[in-house]
Amino acid sequence: MPYARVNGNMLFYRESGEGPAAIFLHGFPLDHSLWLDQLKGLAHVRHCIAPDLRGFGRSDPTVDPVLTMEMLADDVVGLMAALGIDHGDVVGLSMGGYVALALWELRPEVVRSLALLDTRAGADGPEARSGRDAMIDRILDGGRRALADEMVGGLLGRSPSRRAQARLRSMVEGTRYETLVASLEGMRDRKDRSALLPTISVPTLVVGGEEDALIPPDRVRELAAAIPGARITIVPGAGHLTALEAPDAVNQALIELFEGRKVVWWR
Ligand code: MLT
Repeated sequence: MPYARVNGNMLFYRESGEGPAAIFLHGFPLDHSLWLDQLKGLAHVRHCIAPDLRGFGRSDPTVDPVLTMEMLADDVVGLMAALGIDHGDVVGLSMGGYVALALWELRPEVVRSLALLDTRAGADGPEARSGRDAMIDRILDGGRRALADEMVGGLLGRSPSRRAQARLRSMVEGTRYETLVASLEGMRDRKDRSALLPTISVPTLVVGGEEDALIPPDRVRELAAAIPGARITIVPGAGHLTALEAPDAVNQALIELFEGRKVVWWR
């Protein structure tokens, strides 16, 4: 199984396919396996690379007290360099979208196109920040099983498949405690990148779940409206994890983004 040494840590990644590179950035508290349906369904159009971000999944455990979005984005740059990739299509879901926007700010030249799934550009307000601290306390008191219960109840759509519930539980219960704490602190302290949105000059797709209680469709529409020329897909029947809950719809939208990019090139 492939690993790359990036910024002093071994990062695990899973890959599939051939052709132009596409990098898939998972959300919290998930891992590369969020993207298994994309690794399978997009292998005919892209060299798909789905890392476990620092501290997550099979990547090295981390001693970083806070996993900042900038640090995770810098790891993505390092992973691309380690794999000899100059630029790629960057697909980020939720926290992965925060990392993708940090990457756009840090190194826009490595981003060929951007897909922002179930995510937002703003920072946490005071209530959300206290919510992060309360979640850390609940995790340390109640353990990952309680967190998984909370996530299955809160992140998926109204009628989640048993498969989606099982995959979400595996990812949540497989995430190290120190990573849960450090990434919650990193998300709590992340900066507002709303002002960056009008600067996005690569083809962009914004995706939301019709039943997402965390980032409802209206917020997703606002995100898309702020990005010049962004296309938008709201997936019926899906909650916050569209890539897992509705892989066919998400893969189709990604293929259209990737193919549309060629049209932009030819103009
Ligand atoms: C995620 O899915 O990555 C998280 O729910 C994002 C967040 O909590 O802000």
